[in-house]
Amino acid sequence: MSDLSRFGVSVEEELLQSFDQLIAIQGYANRSEALRDLMRDALVKSRLETSPENSEVLGSLTLVYDHHASELNDKMNELQHDHHDLVVSVLHVHVSHDDCMEVIVLRGAVRQIRTLADALLSLKGVKHGRLFVTLAARQMVSRDVVSNGHARSHKHDK
Ligand code: NI
Repeated sequence: MSDLSRFGVSVEEELLQSFDQLIAIQGYANRSEALRDLMRDALVKSRLETSPENSEVLGSLTLVYDHHASELNDKMNELQHDHHDLVVSVLHVHVSHDDCMEVIVLRGAVRQIRTLADALLSLKGVKHGRLFVTLAARQMVSRDVVSNGHARSHKHDK
């Protein structure tokens, strides 16, 4: 773990009380861990908004779909095979007689991942779904982004 820095924060009493109540419900042991998570979330959001379209991200696409929809399984498989380089793993759950849930773990260029996710989500028979995109931990903290007034895109060392 990297060196820890301590800092003081001035905040209205009411805001702090509300925050403490929230993080207690969420299960945080202390404010520090809750603040660290908020900071990481803000950094990931900013980086994803400013990164070039070919930067590598991690994704998970959750889909709930109709097991009986005609040719849907074939189309989903075909799309995933066409982009096998992006698909890391697939979890399939037979939810009920009629419904299936699939969680597809993705890794690759953010633009390609969003395109594949959109193609899968828009298939007839897919009832609901959402793509979650994040970054490897080392990519969340970048001196360039933190020290630079406006985040700019750049390549990382491997
Ligand atoms: Ni199934």
